[in-house]
Amino acid sequence: MKNNSEFREKYAYPILGIATIAILLFLNFSNQLTFEFPTVFWQKNMGFVGVNSTNFIIIYSHNQIDQRVFVNGWNSYWLMEASVWDPSRSKVSRMLKKGAQMGLNVCRTWAFSDGPGPNSLQISPGVFNERVLKGLDYVIVEARKNGVRLILSLVNNLNAFGGKAQYVKWAQEAGVVNISSSADSFFADSTIKDYYKAYIKAIVTRKNSLSGVRYSEEPAIFAWELINEPRCDFDSCSSILQAWITEMVAYTKSLDQKHLVTIGLEGFYGPKPVEKSKINPGEWATSLGTDFIQNSAIDGIDFASVHAYPDSWMPHANVTAKLDFLSHWLDSHISDSENILKKPVLFTEVGYPIYVKGENGHYGDNLMRTVYDKIFESAKKGQAGAGSLIWQLLVEGMEEFGDRFSVVAWNHPSTYKLIVEQSCRLKSIMWKRKSAGELNGEDTCSGLVP
Ligand SMILES: *[C@@H]1O[C@H](CO)[C@@H](O)[C@H](O)[C@H]1NC(C)=O
Ligand SMILES: *[C@@H]1O[C@H](CO)[C@@H](O)[C@H](O)[C@H]1NC(C)=O
Ligand SMILES: *[C@@H]1O[C@H](CO)[C@@H](O)[C@H](O)[C@H]1NC(C)=O
Repeated sequence: MKNNSEFREKYAYPILGIATIAILLFLNFSNQLTFEFPTVFWQKNMGFVGVNSTNFIIIYSHNQIDQRVFVNGWNSYWLMEASVWDPSRSKVSRMLKKGAQMGLNVCRTWAFSDGPGPNSLQISPGVFNERVLKGLDYVIVEARKNGVRLILSLVNNLNAFGGKAQYVKWAQEAGVVNISSSADSFFADSTIKDYYKAYIKAIVTRKNSLSGVRYSEEPAIFAWELINEPRCDFDSCSSILQAWITEMVAYTKSLDQKHLVTIGLEGFYGPKPVEKSKINPGEWATSLGTDFIQNSAIDGIDFASVHAYPDSWMPHANVTAKLDFLSHWLDSHISDSENILKKPVLFTEVGYPIYVKGENGHYGDNLMRTVYDKIFESAKKGQAGAGSLIWQLLVEGMEEFGDRFSVVAWNHPSTYKLIVEQSCRLKSIMWKRKSAGELNGEDTCSGLVP
C-alpha cells in the first residue's frame, strides 16, 4: 500500500458503502424482533403440482404451460431430524442431490415429531421447537434447490415419533379423555382433533426462516399427507375415520388452496364388496376401519395413496405368491383410481427386505420391477397409475435411521440401475408432451432412453 489516500480511494469508500447498506438493511428490519438475514435470495423457479383428471400436472402460473408429470420418488423419513443439527445437515443435502441425480422427482418425509424429546417438533399441544422447525425449513430449501418436490406427512398412526398415541396421552394428561380410552379417540375426540388442527395450521402457515416463503406458497411441496398409515383399533371406528378425513382435508384446504392433499392410506379394502376385500393381503386387513375406495373418494382428497409391503403383510407366503399378490394389488388400485375414483394414485411406500435373494435373481429387484412396469404401462396410456416411491433411501453414515427395507442405492448397482431406468422411461413420456426445463435427470438419462 503506497499511501493513505490511495487506500481510501481504492478500498475505504467501497467498504463504507457496503457498511452503509448493511446498516440501512439492519435499520429497515430492526423493528422485527426475530429478524434473521434470509440465507436464500435466489430460488429455482417451480410450478405447483395440480391434478387434471387422473394425471398430475405442473402448473406454471405465468405462462400457463401445463406439463403432465409422473412420479419416480423415494422416502427418506429422517430428513427433518437430520437437519436439526449442523453435522448431519450435509447428509440431507447429499440425499436430495443424489436423488435428483437418479432422476427422482418426489421425496416423502416426516413433518412431524411429537412428544417430549430434544429433537421433537411439537413438545406439547401447540408448543413447537423452533430449532426443529428450522430443520424442516432447511429440508424444503434443499429440496427446491435440487428440483425435488416433497410429500410432507403430518402425523403418524404408529408410535414412532409420538404419533396419534402421543396426542391421546396429551389429552389424558389434560384430563380431557379418560385413561382407558383407546388410540381411536385420536379420530373421535374433539379436543384431540383441535390439537391436530392447530398443528396443521402451524405447519401449513409457517414462513420459512431461510427463504421467507410461506409453506402454503412453496411449490417444492408436492402435497400434504394427513396421516401415515391410518388404522383403527376397532372396526367400529370406520365411520369416525371417514368423518375425520373429511374434516381434516377441508380444514387443510381452508388454509392452503395451492397444494394437493392425500390421506396416507396403506390401501386396504373394507369388508364390502367381498370381491375387493379378497385383494387384501389377508383377512385381518379388512377390519382396520379403512376402505381404500370410500376413504379416497372424499372431496378434497386430490389423489389416492397406497403402500405395498408383501413381506410384512404376508410373512409366510412364498416368493411367487408375494409377487402375485403385488401384481393384483397394483392392477386393482390403478383400475379403481382410473374408473371409480377418477383420481391419480401414488404408491407412496413400496418396500422389500434388501438382503433377501429370490428364486430367480434378486427378489427385491423383481418386486420393484413389477411395480415400475405397472406404473410405466399405466403412464404410457395416460392412466391413473401416476408413480411410486421406494421405501427408503439412505446415504452413508445414516444407518441409524435404517430398517430392513433401507438401502444406500448406489451401493446396490442393480437396484440403482432399476431406479434410474424408471426415472428415464417416465421422463421420456413427459418429454414427448412438452419439454419443461425443470425435469430432473436430463443428464442422467441422455443416452439411456432412445
Ligand atoms: C387434461 O385432461 C383432459 C381430459 O382428459 C385432456 O384432454 C387434456 O389434454 C389434459 N390437459 C393436460 C395439460 O394434460
Ligand atoms: C372411558 O373411555 C372409554 C373409551 O372411550 C369409554 O368407553 C368409557 O365409557 C369412558 N369412561 C368414563 C368413566 O368416562
Ligand atoms: C407358493 O405358494 C402358493 C400358494 O400358497 C402355492 O400354490 C405354490 O405351489 C407355492 N409355490 C412354491 C414354488 O412353493
